[in-house]
Amino acid sequence: MRPVDLLIVGAGELVTMAGGPRRGERMKDAAVIPGGALAARDGRIVAVGPEDEVLRTVETGPDTRVIDARGRAVIPGFVDPHTHLCFAGDRAEEFALRLGGATYQEIAARGGGILETVRATRAASQAELVELGLARLDQLALNGTTTVEVKSGYGLSLADELKQLRAIRAMARRHPLTVVPTFMGAHEVPPEYRSRREAYVDLLVEEMLPAVAAEPGLARFADVFTEAGVFSVAESRRILERAKALGFGVKVHADELSDLGGAALAAELGAISAEHLLHASDEALARLAEAGTVAVCLPGTSFCLMNAPYARARRMIELGCTVALGSDYNPGSCPAYAMPFIITLACMHLGLNPSEALAAATINAAAAIGMEAEVGSLEVGKLADVVILSTPTHWHIPYHMGMGVVAKVVKRGRLIVDEGKVRRR
Ligand code: NIG
Ligand code: FE
Repeated sequence: MRPVDLLIVGAGELVTMAGGPRRGERMKDAAVIPGGALAARDGRIVAVGPEDEVLRTVETGPDTRVIDARGRAVIPGFVDPHTHLCFAGDRAEEFALRLGGATYQEIAARGGGILETVRATRAASQAELVELGLARLDQLALNGTTTVEVKSGYGLSLADELKQLRAIRAMARRHPLTVVPTFMGAHEVPPEYRSRREAYVDLLVEEMLPAVAAEPGLARFADVFTEAGVFSVAESRRILERAKALGFGVKVHADELSDLGGAALAAELGAISAEHLLHASDEALARLAEAGTVAVCLPGTSFCLMNAPYARARRMIELGCTVALGSDYNPGSCPAYAMPFIITLACMHLGLNPSEALAAATINAAAAIGMEAEVGSLEVGKLADVVILSTPTHWHIPYHMGMGVVAKVVKRGRLIVDEGKVRRR
C-alpha cells in the first residue's frame, strides 16, 4: 500500500455523520467516534475509525501530512446548499431602510430589492464577478464550508444569466471549494418585461433553459422564486417541467413570504429540495416528506428580514422531512454566509439541538444538492473534506454563536485554511 497523504490524529471527537441523510430521531445521531482518526489519499478518505485501528491499517511516509487535532473536534466540512453569492454591488442602504421599518416586499415593489442587484450585476463584467466570487469563496472556506451551491438569477436576460453562470463556472475552476451551480433565471421578472410577464416566462422556457442546458457544466439544477408578485404556481410549474425535460434537477424557493403553494408544487414535481418554507402548511410539509424532497431551512433570512417567522423545523422533523440548513447568502435578505452562525440560529430559533443542526448542515445539506455520495460525512471513499474545530466538541459551535470555531479546513485532502489563513493553491 502507498503511504497516505494525510493523517489526522488526536481528535477529541471525530464526528462522522456516517450512514446517509437523516430523518426523525436519527437526526440526533452524529455517529461520533470518541478519539477517532482519519487518513486520506488522492483527496479521498481511505480510513476512519478509532485511532489505534487507523494507525494499524495505514502507512505513512515522508510526504504524509500529519495533523494533530490536539483534543479538538473533527467534523465533516459544512455543505451550504443554497447561496446567491455571484452578485455585484451591495444593499446596505436597503438594510438601513428596513431598520427604519420598511419591509423587504415594500422595497421590492419600489423597484429595489433583487432588481437593485440585477442592475449592478448586469453592469459588471464576467471577470469582475469572478473576482468578487473568489473572495467570497475564501470567506466561506474560512468559516468551514467545503461545498457550496451557487445560483444565478441577477442577470435575468439570456446574455446576463449566461455571464453569471460562466462566472460561477470560472470561479469554481480557480478555487478549491466544490461549487454546484443552479440556474435561477426565474428569480424575478426583469423591468423590461414588467408589462408583459408571460413573454418572460416564454423566454425562460423557450430560450434560456435550452441555452443553459446546451453548455456543459453551467448548471445542474433550476430554481424558481414561487411567490406572490413574482412567479405564480402555474408559471413555476411550466418553467420547472421544462427544466426537468431538459435534464435539470429542480428546486423551489417555496412559501418564503406567503403560503402560495410552492412547497406542494415542489413535492408534486419531485423536486430535490424546497427552500425557505416559512409559511408552508403542515399538509405541504407532509407532502415533502412523502416525496423525499429535502426541506432546506434558511434561518439567516428570517433573522435578517426581522418581521418574518422562522421555518417550523421541529414540525418538519416530526412529519418525517429530511431537514437541511443553508445560508441563503445574498445581498438583500441574508448577507451572512458563515455556517457556524446559521447553526447557532437553527439551535436558538428552529429548536434543533447541536447534533441535529450539524446533520442538517452536512449530510442532509449534501442530499439537498445531490452530493450525498461524495460529501457531507467522513466515510471511506468520500472526499476528504474535513474541519478541525477550535473546540473539543461540536456542541460548542452554537454556544460560541458561530464565532471563531473553525481552526483548520481540509478540502480534498489538502489543508486550505490553517488557523485563520486561506491557501487557494
Ligand atoms: O432567497 N427569495 C428570493 N431570493 C433571495 C433574496 C435575494 C435578494 O434579495 O437579492 C432569498 O431570500
Ligand atoms: Fe434564496
